Amino acid sequence: MRPSLLLLSGSLLMSGVAVIAASMPEKIYGVNLGSWLVLESWMLPQEWLDMGGESCDDCSTCIATEFAFAQAYPDTVDGIFAKHWDTWFTQDDVDTLKSLNINTVRIPLGYWIVEALVDRKTEFYPRGGIVALIRGLQQLQAAGIVAILDHHALPGVQDADQMFTGNCTTNVQFYTPYNYGRALTWAGVMTALSHLHPAFASVFAIEAVNEPIMDAANTPEYGTYQKEFVIVVRAVEAALGVDVSGIRAQKTFRNASQAMFDMSSQNSTLFDSQVIDALINTAIILAQLASDSETQFDIGKSCEGHEPLVTNFMDVNWQHDDAPNPADAAMGPQAYDNHLYYSSGVADPTPEAYMQSICNLNRVQADAALGDSPLWFGEWGLPTQFNATDEFLQQWADAQKLAYSEGAGWIFWNFKIEDSVLANNISREWSYIEGVNLGYLTKDPSQVHNASVCDGFINS
Ligand SMILES: *[C@@H]1O[C@H](CO)[C@@H](O)[C@H](O)[C@H]1NC(C)=O
Ligand SMILES: *[C@@H]1O[C@H](CO)[C@@H](O)[C@H](O)[C@H]1NC(C)=O
Ligand SMILES: *[C@@H]1O[C@H](CO)[C@@H](O)[C@H](O)[C@H]1NC(C)=O
Ligand SMILES: *[C@@H]1O[C@H](CO)[C@@H](O)[C@H](O)[C@H]1NC(C)=O
Ligand SMILES: *[C@@H]1O[C@H](CO)[C@@H](O)[C@H](O)[C@H]1NC(C)=O
Ligand SMILES: *[C@@H]1O[C@H](CO)[C@@H](O)[C@H](O)[C@H]1NC(C)=O
Repeated sequence: MRPSLLLLSGSLLMSGVAVIAASMPEKIYGVNLGSWLVLESWMLPQEWLDMGGESCDDCSTCIATEFAFAQAYPDTVDGIFAKHWDTWFTQDDVDTLKSLNINTVRIPLGYWIVEALVDRKTEFYPRGGIVALIRGLQQLQAAGIVAILDHHALPGVQDADQMFTGNCTTNVQFYTPYNYGRALTWAGVMTALSHLHPAFASVFAIEAVNEPIMDAANTPEYGTYQKEFVIVVRAVEAALGVDVSGIRAQKTFRNASQAMFDMSSQNSTLFDSQVIDALINTAIILAQLASDSETQFDIGKSCEGHEPLVTNFMDVNWQHDDAPNPADAAMGPQAYDNHLYYSSGVADPTPEAYMQSICNLNRVQADAALGDSPLWFGEWGLPTQFNATDEFLQQWADAQKLAYSEGAGWIFWNFKIEDSVLANNISREWSYIEGVNLGYLTKDPSQVHNASVCDGFINS
């Protein structure tokens, strides 16, 4: 039986207790909940085959992604994915993460979790993910773990031939007005839910785009989108009664959906037509979600006293070629995200070169010099381009944690990997829980085995 959420928030309102949204931990010790609501079949190859998926070298040529799966199995996809969502991330996992003192999760999400954004004639994705998200957020909140909502797989696809976009294709269409617009509506809806829906009280940040194309010449108007993203988040918050400097809201708050409509018709010089459309679409979708029995929340709840969300972008140095700086978009609290995988060729493929590189990493400082601070490392892991010994992986984990803790902290990719013969060789380096079990990662994430691990590698 589901608890009465309406009653709960109603009684809090009456007693005058302001429910303050979660805040950013002093130091982030986190894991990604990868392959939960955006499934990447390489991380669970056996389950994927059992579900009815396929495996191929070029992921655009078989059923290797959610898009291809939903297209192939239109009648059964929702049920099959509901089972995946229920079993891949469970109360047991929450308990394990809590016992390991993980304080943050980054939750990769597809645009399709806001189902009204999907063009069902040409786009195919499972339905019902929002219900799984609500369930997981409730469990995380009870465990005291805060969450980042990460827009990981964007409408139109933001990178070519990547499983993490939900659709392996070279036809990249995200960087267009239509798809920027859909992403802005996604941001509006997620921001509103984060303040209005009791399950979302553990959310403290919302990330605009996971890993856009690195060459900024191929991401036209991404800088404009960054600014619009922040304006939409803040306009939605202001409409809900959150104290946001720079945007004025109606004084009499009756209903969140109506407040979004009112906000969209304000003559703010900050609002271009993309922002106005996103606010109107947010209003429409919010009213639907509020009245749907599976997602319902009190649409009349004012959010006065809430802290604003942290807006989050990949850092300016993620891109090259005249990259727009997300620091220019900031209004209120904002943080930056960098991802680092040495297996993709950051240093020469030797243990010495890896240590030399990580022990002299200057990304936190280089970003801060451009205003991109605080910075967290939202994805990293232990994979290497060589066969690493147990001893090396322990040093490698220590050295990375020390480097990333110079910033706001770190979020490992991934919390787990399937335990199967097919996936056997990857969990050692890609699963946080397995890395702790094998002794590469310390049980207490704030600790390292050897705080002097970089001695001898630091350049003078
Ligand atoms: C996704 O994949 C399908 C099938 O490969 C393709 O037809 C479609 O255009 C792709 N792109 C987007 C943006 O959905
Ligand atoms: C909230 O406002 C919207 C838009 O004006 C309206 O359609 C809806 O009926 C209202 N809902 C409630 C519960 O007042
Ligand atoms: C916005 O400003 C213009 C020009 O001052 C005015 O004509 C228009 O009615 C205003 N619109 C709203 C919704 O206030
Ligand atoms: C790692 O070890 C395996 C099995 O011993 C071997 O086949 C492979 O070539 C090695 N890889 C590298 C990069 O040395
Ligand atoms: C990885 O796979 C190879 C064969 O492909 C096997 O010999 C080796 O033991 C595996 N390593 C681990 C850690 O399971
Ligand atoms: C810690 O690492 C340093 C540098 O590699 C090494 O000299 C030292 O012996 C290590 N300490 C321990 C306790 O392993």
